[in-house]
Amino acid sequence: MAEPVLQISNLVKSFGALRATDDVTLDLYPGEIHALIGPNGAGKSTLIHQICGTHAPNSGTIRFMGEDITQLGVAARARKGLGRTFQISSIAPEFSALRNVMLAVQARQGSSFRFFKPVRSDKSLTEPAMAALERVGLASRATLPVAELSHGERRQLEIAIALALGSRAFLLDEPMAGMGPEGSRALTSFLADLKQEAPILLVEHDMDAVFALADRISVLVYGKIIATGSVEDIRRDPAVRTAYLGDHD
Ligand SMILES: Nc1ncnc2c1ncn2[C@@H]1O[C@H](COP(=O)(O)OP(=O)(O)OP(=O)(O)O)[C@@H](O)[C@H]1O
Ligand SMILES: [Mg+2]
Repeated sequence: MAEPVLQISNLVKSFGALRATDDVTLDLYPGEIHALIGPNGAGKSTLIHQICGTHAPNSGTIRFMGEDITQLGVAARARKGLGRTFQISSIAPEFSALRNVMLAVQARQGSSFRFFKPVRSDKSLTEPAMAALERVGLASRATLPVAELSHGERRQLEIAIALALGSRAFLLDEPMAGMGPEGSRALTSFLADLKQEAPILLVEHDMDAVFALADRISVLVYGKIIATGSVEDIRRDPAVRTAYLGDHD
């Protein structure tokens, strides 16, 4: 079996007396969508924050592509290819979609040696940036200022940026939130495709999307993982039904 891309072991995060992450062990394998579900306040976002580096865990380890990254900062993790999209504010709304992706390509390449080159005409930036926009279906909107893109298109743009940064895994925290049914459907089919490029840890309340997309599901309740398994395993699990799914069926 392939090595996990992401390997979280015995992670603990307390906020005062509250154990928001309580001994969480979870992994993400190449090619998979691993969905993380659970009620409000279960600790899903807190876990994502620790994986991307915005919160430091009290104990436990996070390994990414075989390397212990527990002590690394957000930028260092992103450089290694840990792609967090949504809820990031790295997009410049006054720039075009293309320009935003070009900046990501430039960041990945390291910008020092191209200091005197005009960014706009540099093919080594425009070509990979356009490729990423095509990949997410935004090529026809490339020259529009981001401020003119719809909510759904901005999320596509964020994924294009993550692709341009060379992400080797995606951490998505409620990507469907605020999207209409059409947007959710489009994003669902896109994510099903995207996982071939890089596996996805998906936090999502939209159960239709989770059941359609997930290769595996982990259920988090009060900071603890109470079950991990296939869609069928999780649908059948009595503890999961009691703790979470009961209301949704
Ligand atoms: N910075 C913080 N300081 C103190 N408590 C926090 C902090 N962040 C989160 N919490 C608490 O930790 C628990 C887990 O919160 P978290 O946001 O991770 O839940 P969640 O599963 O993402 O919920 P939701 O589904 O509503 O997004 C909650 O009780 C929350 O109030
Ligand atoms: Mg959350």
